[in-house]
Amino acid sequence: MRTQLCVVDREQLDQYAIEEAGKIIKEGGLVAFPTETVYGLGGDALNPASSARIYAAKGRPSDNPLIVHIADMDSLHKIAKEVPEEAIALAKVYWPGPLTMIFQKTDVVPLETTGGLQTVAVRMPDDPIALAFIKAAGGYIAAPSANTSGKPSPTLAKHVVEDMDGKIEMILDGGAVGIGLESTIVDLTSEKPTVLRPGYVTQAMIAEVLGEVDVDKTILDGNSKVAPKAPGMKYRHYAPAGELVIVEGDTNKVVSYINEQLKQYEGKNIRTGVIATDETEKLYCADVVKSAGKRTDEAAIAHQLYAFLREFDSEQVDYIFAESFETDGVGQAIMNRLLKAAGHKIIHV
Ligand code: TXA
Ligand code: MG
Repeated sequence: MRTQLCVVDREQLDQYAIEEAGKIIKEGGLVAFPTETVYGLGGDALNPASSARIYAAKGRPSDNPLIVHIADMDSLHKIAKEVPEEAIALAKVYWPGPLTMIFQKTDVVPLETTGGLQTVAVRMPDDPIALAFIKAAGGYIAAPSANTSGKPSPTLAKHVVEDMDGKIEMILDGGAVGIGLESTIVDLTSEKPTVLRPGYVTQAMIAEVLGEVDVDKTILDGNSKVAPKAPGMKYRHYAPAGELVIVEGDTNKVVSYINEQLKQYEGKNIRTGVIATDETEKLYCADVVKSAGKRTDEAAIAHQLYAFLREFDSEQVDYIFAESFETDGVGQAIMNRLLKAAGHKIIHV
């Protein structure tokens, strides 16, 4: 299959490309599109055959449910059996935006889309290209991140091309995404609202609206015996090909520890890499050193992380050391993804 790549300007939407993309979806095809978080791999959420094609294109286990993307509140009421007050309150503040909410589903949503669950994850993305595309496609787009299962989520159209070329009908190229990490997922079907996946909308931001919110304990704990409530969170996602280890502790100690390790690999035909920050970038003696930005600039770190992991692959780095980040605010999402990429290998110095 030939994959059509269409560059779309966010400020001045190419209506023809959007209509074309909508038509592909209505005919059961797949279109990758930008959102403010990461690129999505879209299909008709109400068509079981489209969802089956999404799983096949990603190589994704079919027990891992898809998020349904909508463009207005009316659509929510068609696919959610009950819309609790909490959801309306959160939607008022954070939709369109990087927040996904879980509801009991209605019969119009096929089990193929929800991975066999009676619940459905719903999000209204904050990107004019995404919103126009969802409308043109009939209002309900099932979309996981547009990466091959196990690879970092795509933050550029080029990443989507790497993983999906020849497997889908079209890619809408809207340039770099804004946030760079997937949406926050909050479950509103449990007794107490619970964050299942941390993201740009933090626990504190949700608590500001709801008063209280729980966090799934498996999020930062690699040894938990309990299965995460979002089925996708149990997989080792975002894994670079090289071995990734996180080093946590006082910055000076972290730098000396990593440099000691790097020395062991010198002259052995092994390529090494470090995920550093502006403050420490110059102190490392690895083959490839990448700075995620200022240590305090969480948005910059989130924005770069996935591109870095992909670059380490294309630069064929065998061993990667990463500094550790705060676990508050957006840092919780950064550390959650980094820990998963590292298979929870973290060294405390
Ligand atoms: O930012 C995002 O959310 C991106 C963009 C494209 O919107 N999408 C995304 O989708 O990250 P995906 O499929 O890569 O991740 C969806 C996560 C998975 O961990 C899945 O298990 C969870 O959402 N999920 C989906 N439906 C669920 C449900 N009904 N109950 C619990 N978890 C659910
Ligand atoms: Mg994903």
